[in-house]
Amino acid sequence: MSDTRPQTIAILDFGGQYVQLIARRVREHHVHSLVLPPDVAPAVLRDQNVIGIILSGGPASVNEVGAPRCRPELFHLGLPILGICYGMQLACDVLGGKVRNAQCREFGRTNLTVSVHEGLLAHVPDQTSVWMSHGDIVTELSSDFLSLAATPTCPIAAVVHKTLPLYGVQFHVEVAHTPCGNQVLRNFLYDICGAKGDWQVGHVIRDTVDAIRRQVGSSARVICGLSGGVDSSVTAALIHQAIGPRLACIFVDNGLMRSGEVELVESTFRQHFKMDLHVVNAVEQFLSRLEGVTDPQEKRKIIGHVFIDVFKVEAGRFENARFLAQGTLYPDVIESGHGVAGHSAKIKLHHNVGGLPADLGFELVEPLRDLFKDEVRRVGDHLGLPEEIVWRHPFPGPGLAVRIMGAVTAERLRILRNADRIILEEIQTGGWYRKIAQAFGVLLPVSTVGVMGDGRSYEGQNVIAIRFVESTDFMTADWVHVDYDLLGRMANRIMNEVPSVNRVVYDVSSKPPATIEWE
Ligand code: XMP
Repeated sequence: MSDTRPQTIAILDFGGQYVQLIARRVREHHVHSLVLPPDVAPAVLRDQNVIGIILSGGPASVNEVGAPRCRPELFHLGLPILGICYGMQLACDVLGGKVRNAQCREFGRTNLTVSVHEGLLAHVPDQTSVWMSHGDIVTELSSDFLSLAATPTCPIAAVVHKTLPLYGVQFHVEVAHTPCGNQVLRNFLYDICGAKGDWQVGHVIRDTVDAIRRQVGSSARVICGLSGGVDSSVTAALIHQAIGPRLACIFVDNGLMRSGEVELVESTFRQHFKMDLHVVNAVEQFLSRLEGVTDPQEKRKIIGHVFIDVFKVEAGRFENARFLAQGTLYPDVIESGHGVAGHSAKIKLHHNVGGLPADLGFELVEPLRDLFKDEVRRVGDHLGLPEEIVWRHPFPGPGLAVRIMGAVTAERLRILRNADRIILEEIQTGGWYRKIAQAFGVLLPVSTVGVMGDGRSYEGQNVIAIRFVESTDFMTADWVHVDYDLLGRMANRIMNEVPSVNRVVYDVSSKPPATIEWE
């Protein structure tokens, strides 16, 4: 085990909904975290420079046959352990306590009374509110444990073992509804596990750059497909830092981008970073293959295929290019067997027809594999990427093609691009951009009646739908309760400045049942 690996907290995933949140919270305290399967072997923990273990929550009951369990020897490695909810029940069960179905299940906020203000609960007030979500509770502790806190319906809500560095909390320290959660986690990480706080953006960049250099060696080239999004941009910036001119970036202009996108990529990567950027103008190829196609999945398929064809030809021009960069993030990598990662990864795959197939013959370089999205943004910011890229909303691979209902034409693209530009300009000047997860316009080529001069007109008119959503994971989303004046200004500008639009509407659908995109 090399000394340069950051201190790590292992989070054993018992299937709880907050597992990724725990991992992020730990990292927010500047301590590296990894989500691992519940039955992970001690040798794996040693290899990862683990300084403490968190046993996550989960939907099972420890009394059920087949409920996930960790290896009992984990409790005797000398590593500090914090069990959260199911994790606490499991620890108490393994070490001689009793877990029973609570007479009164607890979901939501409740009041915690703390009796021992030291160790895990140091600096936590006598009375505080905490977030609970459980059916079972620990009803009896073995004499090796001490109870530290209680709620009205859960007499044993936090515990410590008398001789092992083992702690448990029945409430969720990781959610924002538990105001003392940060303090409890901090106590565990710094006072109990002895964390040094060595997971800082500067260290992350240094270690990632070293790893890229080790993987790529001293002569090979790396190819990176830039999309203009934050992940591929940070990937390119990191690799460029590691190997400079041996990185070649390819940006395929498919004609389905937003206004100013191509120019922003050129000015950022070619002019500012002085990268070897190759912009391939493939607009004609994409539009001719999309002609007359109305089925959304068919559009996605075509765009995916054309992209691969264009990319392959361009990538083939580089000599000694053995590596392909990819902006895979940690949430896509986590596969602990019980968590939801497998499920969400599949949903992404279904969308990501713009991805590249594995058989292109390249070895992958994935410098973001260990990072969450907010960490990627911090890295990008540190590397000097412009705010417009670092804080960019997600944009689908098939671009404006899935925001034009029906067939995609150059004229419809022009209309939507103009309307969409006005929408973005207005939310940026109005200070709304960062409060919205995704904001965009959708073109509905339906003719509704309008007045033109003195007459009623239908001909050649379109509707623009404005869609603003808030979401943390994009699996669920809600429409944004945006201010009416802003909507009014936007609608006015669109109808005045974009010919062929005579009506603007605002989408007030949540996901589910709607999706974020209209196609
Ligand atoms: P939906 O519309 O399914 O979108 O609620 C969820 C998230 O996925 C994005 N999205 C796509 N991303 N290719 C992509 O790369 C696609 O075909 C695609 N379709 C939807 C969408 O913008 C949102 O962020």
